[in-house]
Amino acid sequence: MALLKVIDLKKHYKNIKAVGGISFEVKRGEVFGLLGPNGAGKSTTISIISTLIAPDYGDVLYKGESVIKSPKNLQKNLGVVPQEIALYPTLTGYENLRFFGNIYGLTGRLLKQRIEEVSEIIGIKDRLKDKVEKYSGGMKRRINIGAALLHRPELLIMDEPTVGIDPQSRNHILDTVLELNRKGMTIIYTSHYMEEVEYLCTRISIMDKGKIIESGTRDELIEVIKGNKRIEIRFDKVSDELIEKIRDINYVNKIEIIENEVTITINNGDEIFKDIIERVGETDVSILSIDVKKPNLEEVFLHLTGKALRD
Ligand SMILES: Nc1ncnc2c1ncn2[C@@H]1O[C@H](COP(=O)(O)OP(=O)(O)O)[C@@H](O)[C@H]1O
Ligand SMILES: [Mg+2]
Repeated sequence: MALLKVIDLKKHYKNIKAVGGISFEVKRGEVFGLLGPNGAGKSTTISIISTLIAPDYGDVLYKGESVIKSPKNLQKNLGVVPQEIALYPTLTGYENLRFFGNIYGLTGRLLKQRIEEVSEIIGIKDRLKDKVEKYSGGMKRRINIGAALLHRPELLIMDEPTVGIDPQSRNHILDTVLELNRKGMTIIYTSHYMEEVEYLCTRISIMDKGKIIESGTRDELIEVIKGNKRIEIRFDKVSDELIEKIRDINYVNKIEIIENEVTITINNGDEIFKDIIERVGETDVSILSIDVKKPNLEEVFLHLTGKALRD
């Protein structure tokens, strides 16, 4: 049985359809990714799963039980790292963690132990006595993550936890996700950064405009664009004649030109090198280098929606 089963969620705000029928399953022990651009409906989906808002339609089953009918069972086993950081700036990191611990019913020695435990995980021990207003974005984010871990949840939901923070904190957070998962925690991770989702997630659902447009492992998703290839060619110069000759190759889908670098997208072109060299040979242009790009989720998204993930 899936740990979490999301069934046909729908939610609108006035005339905005934020979520238009979302379904997916999260298995115990996996890092499940929701990948989509800003406005795709990730946070709305997360808020419904976390029982913060009610859907217009659909349900979420936690261990087979509706979280809308009986939210308690999920709530005590769930940690949520919301997209918007919510901390008390004039309190220290330690005091913030203590406050969140109290919300979970943790007090006394146990609370102290748990604060130590999570400070170790988020790597912030030496800064706990400083006021949060003195923290960098990355530090605040780490406290936010720590707050979600105090009660040792079985399921952790993280909503774009690396947006707007320094690379060091970002890497630390990504490693923390993998480490928590290795110790058995199930994680739902949302992001609009395809590299993060590729790096972390066992299975991924790609979202756009309130819908899931494709789901699978990274490799299964890449299969969607099998046959599509992107090739970067650097020339000594680029002329209209050259571009016309490349455009003329019938399996070339798209040509992007940045100065002397031309990126072409093709499908099923086994003869591409031969064809390119032949066409270029008919001009006075020389090839400096040719680079075949590895397919990634960005291209899957582009293929499915016709737009870039980061517009
Ligand atoms: N509280 C709200 N009131 C009105 N519109 C909202 C609200 N929350 C989200 N939306 C809209 O719903 C859509 C989905 O938003 P959201 O779930 O935040 O997407 P994401 O997290 O993928 O960026 C967006 O068009 C957003 O503007
Ligand atoms: Mg969001």
